Amino acid sequence: MKKEHFFVTGALGCLGAWIVKNLVQERVQVTVFDLGTDTHRLKLIMDAPGIAQVTFVQGDITNREAVIRAVQQSGATRIIHLAGLQVPACKANPTLGARVNVVGTVNVFEAAKETGIKQVTYASSVAVYGPPTDYAETLVSHNAPLRPRSLYGVYKQANENTAKIYWQDEGIAAIGLRPYIVYGPARDQGMTSAPTKAMMAAAAGQPYHIPYGGTAGYQLADDVARTFIQAARTPFEGADAFNIKGAVVHMSEIVAAIEQAEPSARGRITFDDTSLPFPAGQDDAALKQVLGSVPDTSLAEGVAFTVNHFKKALQRGQINPKEMTR
Ligand SMILES: NC(=O)c1ccc[n+]([C@@H]2O[C@H](COP(=O)([O-])OP(=O)(O)OC[C@H]3O[C@@H](n4cnc5c(N)ncnc54)[C@H](O)[C@@H]3O)[C@@H](O)[C@H]2O)c1
Repeated sequence: MKKEHFFVTGALGCLGAWIVKNLVQERVQVTVFDLGTDTHRLKLIMDAPGIAQVTFVQGDITNREAVIRAVQQSGATRIIHLAGLQVPACKANPTLGARVNVVGTVNVFEAAKETGIKQVTYASSVAVYGPPTDYAETLVSHNAPLRPRSLYGVYKQANENTAKIYWQDEGIAAIGLRPYIVYGPARDQGMTSAPTKAMMAAAAGQPYHIPYGGTAGYQLADDVARTFIQAARTPFEGADAFNIKGAVVHMSEIVAAIEQAEPSARGRITFDDTSLPFPAGQDDAALKQVLGSVPDTSLAEGVAFTVNHFKKALQRGQINPKEMTR
């Protein structure tokens, strides 16, 4: 049997960095495929000897041949596909958003087909759902109707359907995971990075205003990363996408958790109480049925961990709060 080797697309991003960190800790081989070359997220959470264990391939997910070649040359046995543009980037450039998020995902399945890899794990999103008014239940179930209100959500829905067709036509199994608001060290871009930026501001002794509020699901990046790895290792028949639940809380509870972790932040972290166009929370019963138990760090612990990590990084001069909290 071939030695376990993960091929992770978009792994210079937040979730990818945490996936890479976990795999290196386990001494599992990992190839990073990313358009970028900026390793600042890896450096924030990993040491130099750990990063030196990783194979980096710079490439564009929209280029079918480049993706196939990179998977072939890596000798990978598992694929985790994260490369994508987030909500604001898709809105600003819908054509590029579709090429990266939709065509890019097709290319990943093409690479699996060409290299004989029989299962793909990929990132979908809560954005496949509509706002709470679309659903009777507070926690939407994984098979509730998909009613995306953004191009990003539409592209993620296309990914979920793409996966189903590759299962039907090629027998490639797929597990899609739908994170909600991922927070933690290295979460520094995308609309929902604001709560993490508030944690960084608190660590730096600065005020911060979060431009939205309401109730949402919050998930620590390390937990989500470990769930992706667990999914990739779980033999699966079919193609389905699963909700990740995390802590379903109002923004006021996020602020309270930050204040608890850093009492000097009291009264300095504010928010607009407008809700995101997504359900209040997601039910993860189906995910647990497939994976068993999943990592689920409590909100208080996750926020305290994040604030402390930022404090240490600030002390080391590793991050510039002005740049990170823009
Ligand atoms: N962070 C969240 O809260 C969240 C929530 C739901 C879903 N997701 C999804 O999870 C995945 C990972 O999220 P993240 O927060 O780590 O994202 P991120 O934006 O931090 O990272 C995305 C990575 O994709 C890479 N990329 C962009 N275009 C590329 C291209 N053409 N070719 C190759 N690589 C390219 C970027 O360089 C970046 O390193 C994404 O697909 C995202 O849509 C994230």
